[in-house]
Amino acid sequence: MRVPLIVDVDTGIDDSLALLYLLSSPEAEILSIASTAGNVPVNQVAANNLAWLDLCGAGDIEVTLGAQAPLVAPLMTTEDTHGPQGIGYAELPVSRRPLSARDAATAWVEIVRGRPGEVTGLVTGPLTNLANAIRIDPELPRLLKRLVLMGGAFEHPGNTTPTSEWNIAVDPEAASEVFAAFSVVPQDRLPIVCPLDITETIEMYPDHIARLAERAGSIPRELIAERDSSATRSTASNPLVRHFSDAVRFYMEFHRDHDQGFLAHMHDPFAAAVALNPDIATYRLATVDVELNGTLTRGTTVADRRGMWGRPHNAAIATTTDPAAFFDDLIERVGALAARL
Ligand code: RIB
Ligand code: CA
Repeated sequence: MRVPLIVDVDTGIDDSLALLYLLSSPEAEILSIASTAGNVPVNQVAANNLAWLDLCGAGDIEVTLGAQAPLVAPLMTTEDTHGPQGIGYAELPVSRRPLSARDAATAWVEIVRGRPGEVTGLVTGPLTNLANAIRIDPELPRLLKRLVLMGGAFEHPGNTTPTSEWNIAVDPEAASEVFAAFSVVPQDRLPIVCPLDITETIEMYPDHIARLAERAGSIPRELIAERDSSATRSTASNPLVRHFSDAVRFYMEFHRDHDQGFLAHMHDPFAAAVALNPDIATYRLATVDVELNGTLTRGTTVADRRGMWGRPHNAAIATTTDPAAFFDDLIERVGALAARL
């Protein structure tokens, strides 16, 4: 069963792996990739998207440019987390392919209107483009088959402020508008929310990279070691392995330097896997809203699980999964893609 997707990303290192995972998955029908400002400015996000598509021989997939800035907040980026260009130490060949003539919000509206009830929206960055699309066409939530987003933190610390998660914190107003807009969809099609509570259990270690490289038939064995100099670069024979290894090394160093261990939380590939197969996780329904005015808590997602607000549920929050099974699946798919290049 193919899954028609519009994918909205702020590429970023884990967004990159989400794209590779979808490109390696025969059931993923990527209709368009929307670029959102977040980890790095939107023009760099778009360039990263084009470059990964070129590397994977997927130059026929549309890449659109989204808003330069959030709805209200000034743009916040995080090059210290994802690197100066958003792909860690990787240096991908610059694509010569032009971006789409239509912008991201227009693509959301036209694609979903063109295939009502069929398209899954996957957002692994701030929700600015989706909010702008809903402002253009308020019927969009009803016309989408499903929305899957990586974002928020509930019974779990934030990664941007003590209580807020990056994708929501970059554009809280957009997130608030999106959650409100999806309060009208049927309970069996509520947006799936993948918060830090679950995505920070998706811990990529160097051994995962070594296994992926081996599946790709890349040589020599791909070993990322915590004691390596940060100037170390991959010598992998396989180009996808080489570039992604250089990207994720930066991310592992960031996690290490922030006392989280020499690992990389793979938030976005997990959300991508959920978009293709929601059965890999379990869910709890809730009414989610976003704090906009708190001095300390702006950008915090709040989940009402007991109907205290008297508002309908608008989210199915992913709660449990099997990280080892997820990585087995990802390594097989992306490794096989790399082997085909
Ligand atoms: O908080 C993690 C999220 O923020 C991920 O999507 C990462 O790519 C950044 O966008
Ligand atoms: Ca992201």
